[in-house]
Amino acid sequence: MEINGRTRTCGLIGNPVEHTLSPVIHNTLAQRFGHNLVYVPFPVEPGRLGEAVAGASALKLLGLNVTVPYKGEVIPFLREVDALAAAIGAVNTLVTVPGGFKGYNTDMEGLYRAMMTEDIQITDEEIILLGAGGASRAVAYLCAVKGAKKVYLLNRTEEKAQKVAEEVNRSVKRQVIFPMALSDFGSLPDRKFLAIQGTSVGLAPYVDDVVIDDAKFYEKVHTGFDLIYSPWETKFMKLVKENGGHAYNGLKMLLYQGIIAYELWNKVKVSKEDADVIYGKLRECL
Ligand code: ATR
Repeated sequence: MEINGRTRTCGLIGNPVEHTLSPVIHNTLAQRFGHNLVYVPFPVEPGRLGEAVAGASALKLLGLNVTVPYKGEVIPFLREVDALAAAIGAVNTLVTVPGGFKGYNTDMEGLYRAMMTEDIQITDEEIILLGAGGASRAVAYLCAVKGAKKVYLLNRTEEKAQKVAEEVNRSVKRQVIFPMALSDFGSLPDRKFLAIQGTSVGLAPYVDDVVIDDAKFYEKVHTGFDLIYSPWETKFMKLVKENGGHAYNGLKMLLYQGIIAYELWNKVKVSKEDADVIYGKLRECL
């Protein structure tokens, strides 16, 4: 693509941003659509987020992604926030609106679309969610909003799970999240579940770590979805498979959070064929 006087810019704000795979997603999509668009990383120093957002608006950037550590901190600098992102309290995509940006959380919409493409249901399901940090909290919201029947939220520190459960249940006005201590997994109902791994335990280079290392837990899992994509197969995924379940990593979540952002910025629909091409490129990067 030729960069010229009509080239639009999108990018990623965060700190650090050097290791991002998002340029692969967006620049490949721009090429395939024939859009005159480039996507670049913008490191933002601590304390300068407000300036960065105002500057991006003044420069009429087409859109931005937001990553660690600014997904929550960015909210006060936005004109509007989408309902799901507001409930979660985290924004990873900014879309231009008059006078500034509207914030979305395509991480969670991306996770949902990734699950749909793998035929993994949330609606009316009973789900186990491991962890109660920022990522798991967002997944708990997603499951509640998408109509899960019950989510057993298992965390090492039970009080944290209780706090997340109270927050989400209050927000969606029904009892859907049930907090438990990790060590109490034996008291889960005697049936099989979808289990979502939402902690950073097992992330490279700590590939032998896993939140629960007991085969008895994995006997209760028909499908395991790990939000981690590096390593390609986490210890959690290995244990799910060893006990007869299907296991998925988080690369499709990464793929679809990017695709949904691109769709919002460019008002297009990305085809399955394009999604497959980008997925292949992302795999090559790992
Ligand atoms: P975030 O999702 O905000 O990025 P994280 O640091 O990736 O957070 O993960 C935090 C979650 O991982 C918490 O649920 C944490 O449990 P505690 O609340 O008890 O601290 C969980 N976690 C981290 N290390 C763990 C370990 N070794 N065993 C079990 N859970 C662990």
